[in-house]
Amino acid sequence: MLPEQISASLYNRQSTFAYQAMFVSSCVHRTALADMHLKHQRQTLPIAAYRQHIVQTLEDNQVLVLSGETGCGKSTQLPAFIMEDQLSRGKACKIICTEPRRISAISLAQRVSAEMGEPAGAVGTNSSLIGYSIRLESNIAKSTRLAFVTNGIALRMLEGGSGQGGGAAIDEVTHLIVDEVSKVHRWLFHISQCIGPRKARKCNN
Ligand SMILES: Nc1ncnc2c1ncn2[C@@H]1O[C@H](COP(=O)(O)OP(=O)(O)OP(=O)(O)O)[C@@H](O)[C@H]1O
Ligand SMILES: [Mg+2]
Repeated sequence: MLPEQISASLYNRQSTFAYQAMFVSSCVHRTALADMHLKHQRQTLPIAAYRQHIVQTLEDNQVLVLSGETGCGKSTQLPAFIMEDQLSRGKACKIICTEPRRISAISLAQRVSAEMGEPAGAVGTNSSLIGYSIRLESNIAKSTRLAFVTNGIALRMLEGGSGQGGGAAIDEVTHLIVDEVSKVHRWLFHISQCIGPRKARKCNN
């Protein structure tokens, strides 16, 4: 068979309903397998055993310091645990997780989105719960419940402006996670100064 005949025959086959149905079902099957694999991976991470303890500790306390081996699931699972718990109980949920590096903010957002079973490319759109914001690039939508942001962006959000209710964006945040906290001492000092007045405002209300 000539190459042109092969490609014409392939084209004809791809146009049939049977071929397209087979293609769609194999994609769906592959997605379901990938979802199951990610779910299994999540369940076998060391942090998984502490899920209930973490959620309960946060329910009873304003601050939690989490320490664990590298790769145990701090950056991906802690934000996910909080989000899943809040949403499952119908509670307000707007989590900000700060990252020292732009690449971490992007890759964590994509990873957590995939672990939530969202389709590829959903991050930052209205069909996703996950977003990220780095300098010159904001991928946060109305539906975003968990945003990974660089430390600089977080500081700007905390200092003022851009809140949808007219106030500072921090006023809408329910949980602030400072990832890689041991690497950002000076930044933490600025953050605590921004959060201080907010706590006072809350106490006065
Ligand atoms: N982008 C990714 N692609 C593939 N696997 C990933 C990705 N991000 C995380 N993982 C997997 O998820 C697990 C948990 O990662 P996570 O980043 O939450 O760990 P961590 O406790 O924050 O580690 P570290 O202390 O190094 O920051 C890792 O062991 C890795 O197997
Ligand atoms: Mg981490």
